[in-house]
Formats: sequence, structure tokens, C-alpha cells
Amino acid sequence: MTHIALVTGAGQGLGLCIAGQLFKAGYNVVLSDLSLDAAQTAAAQLDPSGERVLALKLDVASKADFEAALAAVLARFKALHVVVNNAAMTMTTPVMQISPEEFDRVMSVNTRSTFVGCQVFGTYLAEQGYGRIINMASLAGQNGGTATGAHYAASKGAIVTLTKIFAKELASRGVTVNAIAPGPIESPAVRAAVPAERLEGLIQNIPVKRLGDADFLGKLVVQLAGEDAYFTTGATWDVNGGLFMR
Ligand SMILES: NC(=O)c1ccc[n+]([C@@H]2O[C@H](COP(=O)([O-])OP(=O)(O)OC[C@H]3O[C@@H](n4cnc5c(N)ncnc54)[C@H](O)[C@@H]3O)[C@@H](O)[C@H]2O)c1
Repeated sequence: MTHIALVTGAGQGLGLCIAGQLFKAGYNVVLSDLSLDAAQTAAAQLDPSGERVLALKLDVASKADFEAALAAVLARFKALHVVVNNAAMTMTTPVMQISPEEFDRVMSVNTRSTFVGCQVFGTYLAEQGYGRIINMASLAGQNGGTATGAHYAASKGAIVTLTKIFAKELASRGVTVNAIAPGPIESPAVRAAVPAERLEGLIQNIPVKRLGDADFLGKLVVQLAGEDAYFTTGATWDVNGGLFMR
């Protein structure tokens, strides 16, 4: 049976790479994003025939959008097996300059979205008795962040905790919940967050002296999405070039 995977924030960057690796691994893939245009372009890129992809607008700040997305996926593919809560805002405002409104916005797009995604999709997956949820956290959530803002770092730390909570809640019903905590990956978001003149210094500070590879993260998602991944849950998978060791 073909498994169905949904990725949030799949219009560009890591979400697009993750969607691509899931597609390559044989999944039918739902590419969702705040921008329907970006989701549609990405979906057409992956599968010009449109047979194995579905593009959806899903604003992760809206619970109603999650519910509508689930209904749309079931209408089109009749099932859902894998959810990747990937969408996020990456902001770099210095800590003393972050307004309460900006703090709340980042928390709602990055953390509340993961909470709602795990609730809405987790409820469906548990009812089916099978599912895989993968939440994109970050090294920033473990070490307080370097290039990124305090709100971003705090939002990502909370995702690690939510991952454990939902993993415990859903473990006995066939649903695993894991997080991935990447360090700086070769990606548009890192290029945008780190000025070109500071990038070489950032790379020299990474023990392996290279940025991470987005396709590798996609392959890790594929690994965690597999049926044989039933024994890993509540874990945070570090992919950070040696910047943070437990
Ligand atoms: N790039 C890195 O080095 C890195 C490192 C650590 C963690 N991460 C995490 O990986 C994930 C992907 O990062 P990225 O580098 O691809 O970021 P990105 O900014 O390039 O892409 C984010 C995507 O999310 C979408 N998005 C933003 N707000 C949304 C909303 N409200 N609803 C739905 N979609 C929305 C954007 O349209 C975009 O397509 C994020 O969770 C990020 O925190 C990335």
C-alpha cells in the first residue's frame, strides 16, 4: 500500500527537500504551505503529472486550516500516515528588542503550530492505529541559538518537549513522534539569517567545518517515517556537525 505523507512549509527550503526525499522513497506527498502558489510550484516540480502529489494552503497558525487540510487529504488519498511539522518563521531580532507581539507571533507559528499539528493529525493517526510524526526543532532550542533570535530558540526548545509529550500520549496506539534538531544547513534560510561576511566565520566554528546537507535531513525523515521505525519515539535527532553533543 502506498503511504501518504504531509509536509508543512513545503514550498521552499528544507520542507521542499524533505517532500522530495519522501516522494523519491515512494510516498504520495502533500505539500502544504502558507503560500498556495509556492506549494503548487513545488508539487508540480516534484511530479508534473500531479498523480502522486497534492498542494494545499495550510497556515500553521490556524487550527481550522489543519482540520481542512486533513479533510482534503482524506478526500484525495483516502488516508494519511506521515506528518512532518516543518513550517516555521526564522527571526533574528536581538533579544532586548523583541516586542511581546513578535514573540507571540513566532511562538504561534513555530510552537503552537506543532502542538495543533500533533493534536489534529495525531488524533486521526491514533484512530487508525498507525502513524509517524516528525517535528522540526533546531540546535537553537538546545543551545539558545547563535544566529537566530531568542523567540526562535525558545520556540524550538518547546518543540523538543512537545515531542516527548505527544510521543507518550500516542505510543500505545501505533503512532511515533520524533524531532530533528538541525544545526546550520546549506539553505536559503541560513543565507538570509547570516550575512555573507559572517558565514565563513560561522562555518569555521562548526567542528566538521561544513554546513549540513538538506537532502540528508530528508533521508532522515524517510528513515523515521518507515514502518520499521516503530522503536524510536520521543527522541530528538541531532544533526549539527558536532556543535552540540549530549
Ligand atoms: N535551515 C536551517 O539551517 C535550519 C536549522 C535548524 C532548524 N531548521 C528548521 O527547519 C524547518 C525548515 O526551515 P527552512 O530553513 O526550510 O525555512 P524557510 O524559511 O526557508 O522555509 C519555511 C517555510 O515555511 C513556510 N511558512 C512560514 N510561515 C508559515 C505559516 N504560518 N504556515 C505555513 N507555512 C509557513 C514558508 O512559506 C516556507 O516555505 C524550520 O522548522 C526551521 O526552524 C532549519
